[in-house]
Amino acid sequence: MKQPLRGAIAGYGFIAGQGHAPTYAKHMGNGRAVEITAIADICEARRQAAHAMFPSARVYPNHASLLAAEAEGLDFVDIATPPVHHAEIAHAALDHGLHVLCEKPLATNAEDAQAMLRHAREARRVLFPCHNYKHAPVVKVVRSVLDEGVIGPVHLVTMQTFRNTHAKGVNEWRPDWRRERALSGGGIAMDHGSHTFYLAFDWMAAYPTSLTAHSSTADGHDTEDIFGCTLTFPTGVVSAHLSWTAGVRKVMYTLHGKKGAIRVEDEDVELAVLEAGPGVVAPGSPGQWRFERRVAKSDWMDASHVGWFSSLFDEFRGAIARSEYVGKDAREACLCVELIERAYRSAAEGSRVVELPEATMDRSARPRAPRPLPQGEPCGRDLGE
Ligand SMILES: NC(=O)c1ccc[n+]([C@@H]2O[C@H](COP(=O)([O-])OP(=O)(O)OC[C@H]3O[C@@H](n4cnc5c(N)ncnc54)[C@H](O)[C@@H]3O)[C@@H](O)[C@H]2O)c1
Repeated sequence: MKQPLRGAIAGYGFIAGQGHAPTYAKHMGNGRAVEITAIADICEARRQAAHAMFPSARVYPNHASLLAAEAEGLDFVDIATPPVHHAEIAHAALDHGLHVLCEKPLATNAEDAQAMLRHAREARRVLFPCHNYKHAPVVKVVRSVLDEGVIGPVHLVTMQTFRNTHAKGVNEWRPDWRRERALSGGGIAMDHGSHTFYLAFDWMAAYPTSLTAHSSTADGHDTEDIFGCTLTFPTGVVSAHLSWTAGVRKVMYTLHGKKGAIRVEDEDVELAVLEAGPGVVAPGSPGQWRFERRVAKSDWMDASHVGWFSSLFDEFRGAIARSEYVGKDAREACLCVELIERAYRSAAEGSRVVELPEATMDRSARPRAPRPLPQGEPCGRDLGE
């Protein structure tokens, strides 16, 4: 692959400055895997912050002026604005023949997300979502336990994401944009739903067939701060609860198979395995469980998740190297937006069960390399291997 990749950042706020920039700055040293040459932000104070971090990069007041002046010398654009602008900036970058790394959610509605995938395919440029929770060390431990097969196929997952406030953007702009639907597209489901859903797909080794959801808004904002949903999969059930009004900041996940279970609480992992063998009189009786605890330092309290970005960026670079324009991650990002949209519909209609269009994943194998997509389907309905 050509080195370094030359990138621009659109939206130099919290995640770009705290979560992405340190990795870029590190790579801009000896290895020179990436070079940030231009940055656009509508806020003057943030343009100054960008200049302080990347003194050699040129700064622009919007993505259009950046692309007009810089596109020829660029390989990719990293989009880190509030979600409502993701689609417009992605289309502009693809129009200029650039690869796109896009923060979650990919878009604020399914139609926009599907159009982004179509455009990337047509432009033959990579569209890659920042699904960074997959790169958390503790989530990688879960993956390796599942790969070992010790708990068997997962048929039940519970996911709880507790936050004691909505995530804040940088002070210099609009720190509370997540409470403004016009900028965010929704509340905690739009903000966190993607992380919940792509982890659920991976753990269930399938895509859901129906969902029911509920949401509430405690404090008069126009975006929800509590969201819950149950997803039915061909392989089992996932129940998720997300809250910005919790008394603590924490993630708690449980995954259940026939032979055992995994419990995650931030960076602590507990594996429970049902021991079988000679002399077992009553399977599951006390004494037949083996418990194992592991700690995978994941720095959940740091909302920038800066330590996870390098591994994610390597995957983006890999997708570019393989010319994998709309890979599994992009298709799942689109599916996440479809699910969020349908979950809002379910919640608005008294938690009505909403059937989902068929999206299949090969249950015999954990999804990794994507299969070519059938043409003309929304997100690429066959999302498996
Ligand atoms: N993956 C994660 O863990 C994670 C964590 C935090 C945020 N995010 C995502 O990152 C994105 C940004 O969130 P944030 O917390 O950094 O917000 P932020 O408010 O801190 O940053 C947004 C920046 O975009 C700029 N901006 C706004 N509109 C713009 C436009 N049209 N063109 C150029 N710049 C524009 C603002 O001036 C600001 O500097 C969101 O999509 C969010 O969901 C992801």
